[in-house]
Amino acid sequence: MNLLKEKILEHLKSNPGKFVSGARLSVSFGLTRAAVWKQVQALRQEGYAISAAPRKGYRLEEEPDRLDEKTLKLHKFLYYSAVESTNATIRALAEQGSAGGTVVIAEEQLQGRGRRGRYWFSPPGKGLWFSLLLRPTGIAPSAAAPITLVAAAALGQALRRETGLGVTLKWPNDLLLNGKKIGGILTELKGEPDRVEYLIIGAGLNINQSETDFPPELHKTAGSLSPAAGCVFDRTALVLPLIAGLKEACSIFFQQGFSRFHGAWIELNETLGKEVTITWPGGTVRGRALDLDETGAVLLRDRAGKVHRINYGEIV
Ligand code: BTN
Repeated sequence: MNLLKEKILEHLKSNPGKFVSGARLSVSFGLTRAAVWKQVQALRQEGYAISAAPRKGYRLEEEPDRLDEKTLKLHKFLYYSAVESTNATIRALAEQGSAGGTVVIAEEQLQGRGRRGRYWFSPPGKGLWFSLLLRPTGIAPSAAAPITLVAAAALGQALRRETGLGVTLKWPNDLLLNGKKIGGILTELKGEPDRVEYLIIGAGLNINQSETDFPPELHKTAGSLSPAAGCVFDRTALVLPLIAGLKEACSIFFQQGFSRFHGAWIELNETLGKEVTITWPGGTVRGRALDLDETGAVLLRDRAGKVHRINYGEIV
């Protein structure tokens, strides 16, 4: 935030419930009245509700919910108020040599990315958008593939534990609540055929959105935690155990493989035991999802009794 905006905000905050005149603000900060108005407009665009009354001035009515930057920095997370995509930011950092374990978290993503090149809606004040950089040693890209499922299971378990809500999983990377998607994982990898150089796990979680906060095209499919819980969550307090759980699960996975997470998937999933259609670029198959194998692939039996092993795609 620029210094003038910050000073005006501090001034309004130190006069709770009171109007502060535009004249006083302009004298205090050596600004014209028009320049004060411009900074107030900029604060409004960041979500601060500031009322204005003729001859009275400006009054701060409500502050937007913001992640607590100080707490996040204490945990060594790299916090940004807005980025195009936390995956893109962390990729640039990875290319500059950042260490495994680096976490980038943003209040807002301007071009949040979903799977298959989709857009991920990431407004400020409502959700959690973060990416984790991993540099596993001695692992091939093919062996690292189930990490997306591991991340989904770890975040699903941590959300259940922290919120008490019945979050479930939909293969391969969706987190659901009451049938609506509340989160997803986007994994990116750089490596050679036999060696991962780095992995990026990007997670998007809808936390405090109300139904009307989503654009119309997402109304049917997207959900968030807050309406179901009947409360607004402290996103900073929530993200700490989520990231801790995610990091721990990833390190267990690198030592022990996916089998350690099979049980969690069976417990949380919405997929197995059901008739589903799975599509992937170039194909589609319908049948009963039987199980996940040791690589996280779905075993699906079609009507003719043939069992397919599907390691990439999505359930429609
Ligand atoms: C999906 O399509 O289900 C995956 C969505 C992943 C969104 C997260 S938000 C943080 C990270 N940065 C991005 O641009 N995308 C991921």
